[in-house]
Amino acid sequence: MKVEGENYRTIWLNHEDNNIVSVIDQRFLPHKFIIENLSSVNQVATALIDMHVRGAGLIGAVAAYGMYLAAIESKGSPDFTKNLIRCAIVLKSTRPTAVNLEWAVDRQLLAISKGTSADEKISIAKATALLIADEDVDHCKSIGEHGVNIIDTISKAKKGAVVNILTHCNAGWLAFVDHGSATSPIYEAQKRGIKVHVWVDETRPRNQGASLTAWELLQQGIPHTVIADNTGGHLMQHGFVDMVITGADRVTRAGDAANKIGTYLKALAASDNKIPFYVALPSSTFDWNIRDGMKDIQIEQRNSDEVKYMQGLCDGELKTILVTPFDSPAINYGFDVTPARLITGLITERGICEAKEKSILDLFPEKL
Ligand code: MRU
Repeated sequence: MKVEGENYRTIWLNHEDNNIVSVIDQRFLPHKFIIENLSSVNQVATALIDMHVRGAGLIGAVAAYGMYLAAIESKGSPDFTKNLIRCAIVLKSTRPTAVNLEWAVDRQLLAISKGTSADEKISIAKATALLIADEDVDHCKSIGEHGVNIIDTISKAKKGAVVNILTHCNAGWLAFVDHGSATSPIYEAQKRGIKVHVWVDETRPRNQGASLTAWELLQQGIPHTVIADNTGGHLMQHGFVDMVITGADRVTRAGDAANKIGTYLKALAASDNKIPFYVALPSSTFDWNIRDGMKDIQIEQRNSDEVKYMQGLCDGELKTILVTPFDSPAINYGFDVTPARLITGLITERGICEAKEKSILDLFPEKL
């Protein structure tokens, strides 16, 4: 997507040195556009844990590139395979909820195991990382092409009036390699001349909506309004929301969806107001091994300081401020699970289905 008119992906191999992975450091957006170069597995792990990079699809892609660096590092170690597995464990332990992380690392381990020499393993790891990134781009693009039909139908029912879409957190291109999941149908709608407006939940505590989604939409020229997290229900009651689209970090084979904390409350409000609630995801976000999201999805708990402190621009400088009493305890659950019964449909790269096992498997019969 475009940044100041120039096309970017969120991750790429450094053009001067292919042993370095370049990413957009999202901690400084929307105020500063900073590119970070990662040249070791430890640096990749830190970038994941401290959320220089985040969002399910991008977490998967970063882990895939991290495994490429792991293969390079393993060549210099006494036991290639032992070191590679150690690196895989380090990367997998960085963030527990987004299934794309383990999916990408396991895919790399399998691919690399086919190489017969260290050099061959490194070149397989590089090719697999590039493939995972390219697939992510293609899948997100297809999500847009399927999802736009829902927006188009609403637009026609409204006789071409603006379609108001509410989204939570950032499931835009910054959360993937390009296009995004929840935002991809919106970008496609814009391309086709369908009038849209996006309500952007700020998404406390880390404000991915206010800082990242808003920035993305601004860069693409999409009309949007940032709202405090608690505003969505009110807007829905008064007819200002036509549909909700969110992303997901792990979706069970029965359609329960883990996404950024607060998503469940939006789904409840949407259900109460009979507003369609869609979850957009590439197939890499399905966890085919589980059915019950409430029981089987591990919810990441992060440092309570993310709740107590906020970052913003003050006199031209990024500053962090305390918003609670210093001594008040806080708790920071990163995600919640929206049960399948509250989800109108899942938008995937293969099409749209109901959030039900049978309907999901009709699209992905190889997972029967
Ligand atoms: O904690 P984050 O920012 O990595 O959270 C993930 C998310 O971006 C959202 O939950 C998003 O909607 C998932 S779609 C990539």
